[in-house]
Amino acid sequence: MKTSHSARARAIVGLSMMAALILVLDTARAADGAYTLDQAARGKSVYAEHCASCHGDQLQGGAAPTLVGKVFADSWSQPTRNVDDLFYVMRSAMPRPRVG
Ligand code: HEC
Repeated sequence: MKTSHSARARAIVGLSMMAALILVLDTARAADGAYTLDQAARGKSVYAEHCASCHGDQLQGGAAPTLVGKVFADSWSQPTRNVDDLFYVMRSAMPRPRVG
């Protein structure tokens, strides 16, 4: 069925981005069993295809803000924000449409 297939595809992309995000935040590791190496690999490939052009090959930023380092970690570890908020930004607003 088309609907369930695309729902499944969205779930896979979401999970992959989650894995990439967890990797970025460095709050959990594959070795801890929080996510699998396969999920991390899928997240890496989704990131390279859909995110790196703006956020940089190493998540260092460029046209878009950095997704790694102290400023990013401090911003997203405030008590008023959680991983669900960050996931919401990614799933609802990213990748941003290209302009120009
Ligand atoms: C066309 C450029 C572009 C692409 C492609 C893009 N982003 Fe973004 N992203 C931005 C810009 C610009 C911002 C900052 C403004 C905003 O939040 O809308 C941003 C903000 C973010 C933020 C919030 C950062 C913070 O600290 O507030 C996250 C997380 C993020 N992007 C993740 C992603 C992910 C994951 C992808 C790929 C699925 C992606 N982005 C693709 C341009 C882009």
